[in-house]
Amino acid sequence: MARPQSRFVCQSCGDSTLRWEGQCRGCGAWNTLVETLVRESASGARSRSVATADVAPIPLREIGGSTPLRMALGMGEVDRVVGGGLVPGSVILLGGEPGIGKSTLVMQLAAGIARGGSGCEVLYVSGEESAAQIRLRADRLGLPASVAGERISILAETAVERMIAAAERASPDLMIVDSVQTSTADGLDGPAGSVGQVRQVAAVLADFARRCDVPVLLVGHVTKEGTLAGPRTLEHLVDAVLSLEGDRSGSLRLLRAFKNRFGSTEEIGVLEMGEMGLREVVDPARAFLTAGELGASGVAVAATLEGARPLLVEVQALVAPQTFGTPRRTVRGVDGNRLALLVAVLGRRAGVQLAAQDIYASLAGGLSVDEPAVDLPLALALASSARDRALLPGTVACGEIGLLGELRPVRGLDRRLGEAVRLGFRRAIVPAERMGGSSAAPRVDIELQPAATLREALAVAFEPDGSPGAGARTERTPAHR
Ligand code: TYD
Ligand code: MG
Repeated sequence: MARPQSRFVCQSCGDSTLRWEGQCRGCGAWNTLVETLVRESASGARSRSVATADVAPIPLREIGGSTPLRMALGMGEVDRVVGGGLVPGSVILLGGEPGIGKSTLVMQLAAGIARGGSGCEVLYVSGEESAAQIRLRADRLGLPASVAGERISILAETAVERMIAAAERASPDLMIVDSVQTSTADGLDGPAGSVGQVRQVAAVLADFARRCDVPVLLVGHVTKEGTLAGPRTLEHLVDAVLSLEGDRSGSLRLLRAFKNRFGSTEEIGVLEMGEMGLREVVDPARAFLTAGELGASGVAVAATLEGARPLLVEVQALVAPQTFGTPRRTVRGVDGNRLALLVAVLGRRAGVQLAAQDIYASLAGGLSVDEPAVDLPLALALASSARDRALLPGTVACGEIGLLGELRPVRGLDRRLGEAVRLGFRRAIVPAERMGGSSAAPRVDIELQPAATLREALAVAFEPDGSPGAGARTERTPAHR
């Protein structure tokens, strides 16, 4: 057995040094180096004395050019995000907060693969739950009764070498490992979940996936800061990084791809957690609209574009006189810094003074959006709440707001508005300037209210003063729920 050796691994970027240093040389972060014991592993020793005589690169033209066969996961929204199905030999990391539904999702995907006609077998390895617990969940999802019950095998294991031995014996068509943080690799003394362990486990699994051409679905928890533990280092080891997001107390879940070697990162999937697990949402574009249209103040509808997918999202704001000390700013789903900036711009450029008010802002359905185009709807919702007047019904808005109070163009305006029309909206407040300086009007059937500044947008957002109440000038739309 080789002499144990300790290294100092940066908990933020995974870089390692032999001696302790205050600042990581890799990422510049302070106090992130943690001592981790590393034994010279057998495989590490071998790789240094690897046989070199038979290295033979293949000419590019002789490599089979067929597009890889993809395994459909049986859930349209998920297939869409991964790019049409799993590619054999690829490693996919599925991240998300604890309790968001990762284990449920992978179990359902396992069932989807097993059900998929060609008799595919799945090996589901769990280091988090016992086989009996997994069986309970599967029962709840109604799985063992179907063919999935025979084709999914469960292994409760944490040692990655043992998982791979089992996988080599069973040669499944899909291997699931739940989770990377509970798995340990031989040769490392660090605790499960430490950066070194997480990285080594992922590397060993990736090696297995490529060697045996088996796709591996790896589950990972995200830390409080929202980064996958074992951070950046895992991203380059895997082929795709998916993230399951949402508000745990709500039922909607969003699946996004942050990296996808075999597909687009523009796609998102919308799922809903119910009594029988996750299911696809029938009309995702309307999922983030609530009852709305009740003529309440403090509500605006944003036409957002998540990747390639237009989503209409209700933005809610509540402005109330400050009760105590410094004014409160509570946000959910929108960026707090952005809110602070909008409050300042509203005060200086549009005459809506909110500096001494408590402010609460959130997006419906637990969605979080960091698109600049929600600036305008958020500002409108704030102004609406401050004035206690509802916006004109049937209106959507989008646009980035600059420090001068100017509205900046947004990308994909036609797609946003097209979706708004489909869901029954008839007015849209949009930046006067078009993306790329184009002057062509969008080819959608909606009443456009172009505005160059926030002040102009506010002028057209409300019922004109002195008019007889909301709804008199524009009839109400019953179109969205
Ligand atoms: P789980 O998949 O265990 O989350 P994770 O693996 O990400 O930690 O599921 C978490 C929650 O989902 C749990 O609180 C129970 C709930 N749930 C349902 O609402 N419906 C279901 O059918 C199942 C299986 C779980
Ligand atoms: Mg779990």
